[in-house]
Amino acid sequence: MNHIKKIFFYIENYGCQMNISDSEIIIAILLKNQFFLTKNIKKAHIILINTCAVRKKPELILINRLKKIKYLTSNNKIHPIFIVIGCLSKDNSFFLKKVNLIDFNIHPDSYKKLPYFINLYFKNKFPKNIQQINNKENYSDIIPFRKKNKITTFLSITRGCDNMCTFCIVPFTRGRERSRDPYSIIKECKNLYIQGYREITLLGQNVDSYIWNYENNKKIIDFSNLLDFLAKEIPFMRIRFSTSNPHDMSLQVIKIISKHKNICKHIHLPVQSGSNKILKLMNRKYTREKYINLIKKIKSIIPECSISHDIITGFCNEEEEDHKKTISLMNEIKYHYGYMFSYSPRPGTYAYKKLKDNVPLYIKKRRLKEIIDLQKNHSIFHMKKYLGKQQEILIEGVSKKNDQYWFGRNTQNIITVFPKKKYKIGQMVFINIIDYTSATLIGE
Ligand code: SAH
Ligand code: F3S
Repeated sequence: MNHIKKIFFYIENYGCQMNISDSEIIIAILLKNQFFLTKNIKKAHIILINTCAVRKKPELILINRLKKIKYLTSNNKIHPIFIVIGCLSKDNSFFLKKVNLIDFNIHPDSYKKLPYFINLYFKNKFPKNIQQINNKENYSDIIPFRKKNKITTFLSITRGCDNMCTFCIVPFTRGRERSRDPYSIIKECKNLYIQGYREITLLGQNVDSYIWNYENNKKIIDFSNLLDFLAKEIPFMRIRFSTSNPHDMSLQVIKIISKHKNICKHIHLPVQSGSNKILKLMNRKYTREKYINLIKKIKSIIPECSISHDIITGFCNEEEEDHKKTISLMNEIKYHYGYMFSYSPRPGTYAYKKLKDNVPLYIKKRRLKEIIDLQKNHSIFHMKKYLGKQQEILIEGVSKKNDQYWFGRNTQNIITVFPKKKYKIGQMVFINIIDYTSATLIGE
């Protein structure tokens, strides 16, 4: 490749918000090292796919996508190298190399070495040690290449996870939990405000366990301190965060959310199951009762707060009785919205090794449908309450379904669309709600 003047890379992203944020870091690293970004896959010398291994489905999507890209580029003059980044199980990494769908894949802690690995590869030397976990890497020195709408963006404040939920592959693919220096976070947020951003989502697998010791452990900054600082330092920037593990959410965090107008009144609080037996098998460190208590505390301190969830159905040994407990929990809480999945065993996890995936697929599917239908009813229950009310919306862009409409979200993270008229992207506007669907408010 030495004879090529410009080396182009193409990147595609799958999975969570953290992956979107990571792709922005990877682009920044490659641009800094004299590689050029292209949106044209046929022009690319390097094809990067940022993938997710949390469930089985994204892995199947990855395989199909790789096959399609191989086909698309097969008649090209350029023979691109294929690199998978992000979370990938060891089995799949081995498989993808064996069937020649990728050249190599690298660990989420090794992105800074990507230019080095690519150059080695171009010299026909196969890069080694590309799967090394580096429990100190937090990329706080990289300014991500942000290409979204320039109004809302993500910022990772912790990486990795120490929780070891028995179903979850994240602690294996992303390593131990580590937090990022609070001053680098505040500095970056201030810069983002100057650039025109008006909403920032702080990201971590478990943001509430954010912790930073500095000045030789004389001062400790926890998540509530960080939120408090940020809310004061960037008073006109909306602040969101994701994800909170119910076990780690403190009363202090709830109080700080209620104290500042610019911290959005929405908490994503994955419950996973309403049955204590299943929660224990999942190694979630709370009970149904503690979870409900936490929601009660949130509601009493921030009555307008919306709550969303993640639920897994059909986990190992889940019986009808356990499923009914999940349903009764959902009925008790009535979430605004949620993400629901049927359990898929992930290689390397405790559940994969030690528990039996013994709920038949047709039962998993039926239970999943039941909770999805129930959630839809609960979402509608909440949406109805907005009718005739005014909502403060940050305009994020043009609605995908109708270019005569703006779209944005209210503080509770509910998507709202309304006729364009005179406003501009980035403005905060008050909108009258006149209609709704189960997922969108319609205003005028
Ligand atoms: N702490 C992260 C968790 C990432 S995984 C976060 O909350 O964003 C996101 C969700 O995927 C989990 O909350 C869980 O509901 C689901 N999930 C994780 N592993 C799964 C598995 N093996 N099968 C089905 N769903 C799973
Ligand atoms: Fe996974 Fe549990 Fe951490 S869901 S990311 S091990 S909090």
